[in-house]
Amino acid sequence: MSNSQSSGWGSRVGLVLAMAGNAVGLGNFLRFPAQAIENGGGAFIIPYLVCFLLMGLPLLFVEWSMGRYGGKFKQHSTPFIFDSMGQAPYWKYFGVFGLFTNIAVAAFYCYLESWALSWAYYSVAGTFTDMSMAEVQLFFENYIGLGTSQPVIFWIICLFLNTWILSRGLSGGVEKVAKVGMPLLLLFGLILGITGITMQASPEAGGPIHDGVVGLNYLWNPDFSSIWSFDVWVAAAGQIFFTLSLGMGSIHCYASYLNAKDDVALNAMSAGWMNEFVEVVLGSMIIIPISIGYLGIDAVSDMVSGGSGLGIGFAVLPKLFADWGGFGVMAGLMWFGLLFFAGITSSLAMGTPVMAFLKDNFGWKESTGAWFFGLIILLLGIPCVLSQDAFNEFDYWAGTISLVVFALIEIILFAWVFGLADNYSEWRKSDDVLPFKAMKRLPAWKEITRGADINVPIIFKFIIKYVSPIFLLIVFIGAIPGIIDNATKETSFYGWLARFLLLTLFILISFLVYIAAKRNKNSKLY
Ligand code: PHE
Repeated sequence: MSNSQSSGWGSRVGLVLAMAGNAVGLGNFLRFPAQAIENGGGAFIIPYLVCFLLMGLPLLFVEWSMGRYGGKFKQHSTPFIFDSMGQAPYWKYFGVFGLFTNIAVAAFYCYLESWALSWAYYSVAGTFTDMSMAEVQLFFENYIGLGTSQPVIFWIICLFLNTWILSRGLSGGVEKVAKVGMPLLLLFGLILGITGITMQASPEAGGPIHDGVVGLNYLWNPDFSSIWSFDVWVAAAGQIFFTLSLGMGSIHCYASYLNAKDDVALNAMSAGWMNEFVEVVLGSMIIIPISIGYLGIDAVSDMVSGGSGLGIGFAVLPKLFADWGGFGVMAGLMWFGLLFFAGITSSLAMGTPVMAFLKDNFGWKESTGAWFFGLIILLLGIPCVLSQDAFNEFDYWAGTISLVVFALIEIILFAWVFGLADNYSEWRKSDDVLPFKAMKRLPAWKEITRGADINVPIIFKFIIKYVSPIFLLIVFIGAIPGIIDNATKETSFYGWLARFLLLTLFILISFLVYIAAKRNKNSKLY
């Protein structure tokens, strides 16, 4: 960490907070509770935890280790991290996913993040104070339907902020934001969560007393029949991916700024468990208890259908906070401030691999890369802002499918190609390989445990080699019918535009990787 590289992390605390910030996002506070209710309430925790242990943690170890390994060769983005691990020339093209997904997810994620920013502003400005519940909902619908120009203004401010922070580099920008944002997020989350489950309120004088615990009970009320449903398992796996930011390439990038002997095992565990605390504990204590406390179970279970939680978070809570009197304004600011911090520490993580790729391979300055990233997100974000169909396409292809595909590929590369590299390099000896490729390779397990500050249970060796890949393969095969459906489904002009843009983006990045590979070879960069 305190290494000689020009860019890197300032401290271990900073790194862990930045990694936790990467993971803790809108998914923890909005998506998780909605998914839990949709998929069996308290029983959802069973597939969810199994997926965390058999897929989440192992993939965290894998991604951190791959990142740190690539960093040794001054490579900080997945195309050439993969290249440094696999012998064959095609691995780097699989790494394209790790740039593609970050750009495509950021294109719609920054827009959602800007909602949190604007709602924080409206809360302080008192916009919701005198509105009725129906009016708040109308306001929300009008906003997302672009009935005013404000969404666009807030979106551009939000993009600008992201880009500006990124342009200041890892320790000068990203780490500083994480060090301030994450503790505040935890504080706000605790205050709101405790208020949520202890609240006893009555919106109308003389009306019934509402109790937050009812909502908490409802969320955790287990429906055990749900654990026999394949869809529930896929939903749990999807949530684990999304919430831990796995299969993206952003963890690799953050980890690639570690020193070769720095710990990855304990760091990965710390960031992962911190995310789970925020998700399972704080994430269940806010939107569901508060909204069910006031509105009752039926109304709220209708609202979570679809599983995004956005409606409750943005269209319902602002009104309910108003019932908390003077504290309501603070509550609004804390809630949307928390969402904004959660969002920005995640979207920053999506920018870093792109900047690193341009810097490592094309010699771009970090700040230039940051502004370039901002520009691409602006362009690709336009269809997502204008149309729900485009938004859905981006979310599905980049935010769901691409994560699973990438994770499946990386674990095969790590456990089966790189992991067997000892013998592998034997029979490849005669090949004209680049010098570092001929260096003795450490098998995968040593990569995870080298420098480790904890003993990684040996069972993970088995899990990483057999269980996680098979698990991923099953999830992937199970998702194929859905993929075919979605690829052939009719959609609007914007939906098609989105598909076209995504495909073009993927091809363009592959082309850049091709050029970079040629340049690296010529300049004997490594
Ligand atoms: N983990 C983030 C969330 O829970 C989303 C995210 C995915 C962030 C991928 C960065 C990379 O909202």
